[in-house]
Amino acid sequence: MTKTAARNAVSAEQSAVEERLTRNVKGSFENCPDPRLKQVMQSLVTHLHAFVRDVRLTEEEWNKGIEFLTSAGHITDDRRQEFILLSDVLGVSMQTINVNNAAYGNATEATVFGPFFVEDAPEIPLGGDIACGAPGQPCWVEGTVTDTEGNPVPGARIEVWEADEDGFYDVQHTDGRVAGRAHLFADDAGRYSFWGLTPTPYPIPHDGPVGQMLEATGRSPMRASHLHFMVTAPGLRTLVTHIFVRGDGLLKTDTVFGVKDSLVKDFAQHPASAPAPDGRAPHRAWARVRFDIVLAPPGT
Ligand code: BEZ
Ligand code: FE
Repeated sequence: MTKTAARNAVSAEQSAVEERLTRNVKGSFENCPDPRLKQVMQSLVTHLHAFVRDVRLTEEEWNKGIEFLTSAGHITDDRRQEFILLSDVLGVSMQTINVNNAAYGNATEATVFGPFFVEDAPEIPLGGDIACGAPGQPCWVEGTVTDTEGNPVPGARIEVWEADEDGFYDVQHTDGRVAGRAHLFADDAGRYSFWGLTPTPYPIPHDGPVGQMLEATGRSPMRASHLHFMVTAPGLRTLVTHIFVRGDGLLKTDTVFGVKDSLVKDFAQHPASAPAPDGRAPHRAWARVRFDIVLAPPGT
């Protein structure tokens, strides 16, 4: 018997005591008037109790857990949401996305939302530039928005946002700048294009309890390089996703488990001398990526 198995072995009487408690707690929700709430609470109790029993949680460890959650609460405010970050690094956000965005035909896959989306980002015309002074390599992004039958979705609203080459979103600066984010609308043929920045890797906010947990467990806070999209169109499922950079060394270890193979794209590199697709002279090496977006029907 392994050391862990020996530690976990409990007598039949002890097991009966533990199981009785779980039954009692589940039973306390029996008269819950909302059937969905009842199901969620009873299942939560089942799994939490199973966890405590599985690891034979010590009282000291239980206290540490409570202290951890308390400090996550203390650091959380209007700008910082440590509980979502915790959900992200435990893969709970991604699993919730998986459960709620089942693969549908050739529809583009969803991934995590992240904490850096801002409502009312400026509108840019097709071919416009989202950088607004954010430093980084210019990157021409183009593609189409269609439904799963290949019909273009004219007027689809495309929100895009990303970190600069130093790894910061505009909202992480304190001067109120708006940079590296915008929205635009697909044209009559469902086409869109804009200038963004070639994505670079950056860490999630790791100066709080979640960062301490990553450090204590030997995990990296780094996200794979990505560019965020949210695409909405009447009568179609809203898509929240990113595209990732093929060849990025962090694709396999993205700390929030957001990478899906279908979202990894080729960012072709071009020298400064190469003519840009819109005739602009970027004056430095630039990249180009294609991302064709397919929206699923609603309720799928
Ligand atoms: C991000 O994409 O920027 C992000 C996602 C989840 C947690 C933290 C950051
Ligand atoms: Fe991000």
